[in-house]
Amino acid sequence: MNNFNIYGYNSFASIQEYLEDVARRHSDIVKLQPLGNSYQGRTVKLVKISKNPNAGNPIIFIDAGIHAREWAAPAMALYIIHRLTNHPDGRRKELEGVDWYILPVVNPDGYEFTRSSKANRLWRKTRSKTSTNCLGVDGNRNYGYKWAVSGVSKDPCNKETYAGPKPFSEPETRMVRNVMMQYGQRMKLYVSLHSYGQYLVYPWGYTGDFLPKEWQKLDKMAKRVSAAVQSAGGAPFKVLSAGKWYAAAGGSDDFAFGAIGVPYSYTMELTDGYEFVFPESLLRIVLPQFYEGFKEFGTQIKREFKPMEHFRVKNTSTSDSNED
Ligand code: ARG
Ligand code: ZN
Repeated sequence: MNNFNIYGYNSFASIQEYLEDVARRHSDIVKLQPLGNSYQGRTVKLVKISKNPNAGNPIIFIDAGIHAREWAAPAMALYIIHRLTNHPDGRRKELEGVDWYILPVVNPDGYEFTRSSKANRLWRKTRSKTSTNCLGVDGNRNYGYKWAVSGVSKDPCNKETYAGPKPFSEPETRMVRNVMMQYGQRMKLYVSLHSYGQYLVYPWGYTGDFLPKEWQKLDKMAKRVSAAVQSAGGAPFKVLSAGKWYAAAGGSDDFAFGAIGVPYSYTMELTDGYEFVFPESLLRIVLPQFYEGFKEFGTQIKREFKPMEHFRVKNTSTSDSNED
């Protein structure tokens, strides 16, 4: 692989190359599913990792990079792919009974824009043209669950939280919505990776006035994940509902939980202390620590959810029409 460093910040082009390479090298367990194109025409690919795609396993769905400047997030998503496909003893325990679907860069146009110059490094939004003067929508205010009821700007020139002209105005959020609708019933955990702040938050995000009735389960799992990261030498997460941190509607976490019905849904804010410009040299330290949290997520999901008989593909010899 040219130019790709798993402990580095990579260009979208070398990320795509890396994904193709992983799919080639581990064709027994990795499949790429193109989900469509970004506003500027970059192809967004879902990485599906499974030891047995026909078993109807519960799915853990992870996305990253909806916010362009939060470079630690795609780096973490790629590191998860790396670890799930390169188990040191070849056993791949994390893949037993659970399928991992990972979308490492949801907003590639924004990501490449932040790489294009120092002046653009802190861009957050997409790069679509929705008004005459200003570009971009905050993808994490653009999802269609309680859209725009709190914590958004209606001004296209607002660089942070413009919710867009309507829900799912952005091709990038539509792609995530569509794939959630495709696999929704098997998705048992959704994690959206962001940075920074070392928070692990769960619904509701649109309000801090009340919590979903299942909040204690969400809280408990998050605290276990936080403890696992801490045991690996990392900082613990602040665990609470997103809306009690600050209310903001139209996030992917609320959509997954409220509209799709994914039982565990989180936004994970990686790292603390460097804001959006987390030093590349420290990725080698923190990515493995965070990975221990994902192993814990996997253990919990496997414990609570069994493969779903209904989704099992029985005759694999004629499985051309299976869910892949
Ligand atoms: N920093 C994230 C954002 O502003 C937090 C999102 C938490 N989720 C939510 N639905 N408010 O997009
Ligand atoms: Zn973010």
